[in-house]
Amino acid sequence: MALLRVVLIAALVSVVACLAQSPQESEPAVQGDYEDGDEEHRPGQPCLLCHSSDGHFPSAPGEAVLEVAGTVFGQVNSDEKDGLRDVEIIFTDARGDEFTALSNKAGNFFVKVDSGLSATSQEGDGELNIPRKPLFPLEVMIRRGGDEQRMKTKIWRNGSCAHCHGPVPGADSVGRVYLFEGGDAQ
Ligand code: HEC
Ligand code: HEC
Repeated sequence: MALLRVVLIAALVSVVACLAQSPQESEPAVQGDYEDGDEEHRPGQPCLLCHSSDGHFPSAPGEAVLEVAGTVFGQVNSDEKDGLRDVEIIFTDARGDEFTALSNKAGNFFVKVDSGLSATSQEGDGELNIPRKPLFPLEVMIRRGGDEQRMKTKIWRNGSCAHCHGPVPGADSVGRVYLFEGGDAQ
């Protein structure tokens, strides 16, 4: 009996050792929830931190240079998995140009410039392409169905909503961008 137990423990130890050595097994855990590389990753994070020409990468990852980007959430105390899809994010820039992005199923949306275009082009999956760089400051409102909210102040410089709309309301954050269900139009 004692011998059998020793054999079992030895077998277990070797299985564990084997897992620990396998990069295929350990990498997903190290990466956490984020599998970088698609339009639904990192909801609620300041997208332009990485995805701008002066972001913290030498060049924007995956060539995704974003002008404005962020995430709309469905509830006040939402965690990052409660992004709201199909919300229109309606911008007016300082020239009066209007463009409307549409959030994807993570609640993410992002705006890129494609100077070959003659009109804005909705690409799906949160992506909007516009023909010229937006001129700041920007006005923004969000809308889905009969619910809409307008940001009263303007976005002066930073294209990441999460630059100000961080997860925890406080001195340096006004809280997530969220669409109230039944919110009144202003
Ligand atoms: C901490 C850095 C970081 C943040 C923050 C970040 N991303 Fe990314 N993003 C990446 C990396 C790295 C990739 C992978 C690029 C690749 O595949 O080479 C990527 C890829 C992408 C892609 C695909 C680009 C392509 O050309 O295939 C999109 C779209 C994207 N991110 C949008 C966003 C949005 C929207 C946000 C904010 C809600 C965001 N990202 C926040 C680092 C970041
Ligand atoms: C420079 C900081 C800053 C940035 C960047 C910013 N916001 Fe705001 N936002 C605020 C502040 C402050 C308020 C609250 C006062 C107001 O309405 O202006 C607010 C309010 C809002 C509201 C109204 C919320 C309500 O309760 O009615 C919406 C909607 C909104 N922001 C959306 C966005 C979106 C979408 C983006 C990104 C495209 C964004 N904001 C970027 C600072 C910012």
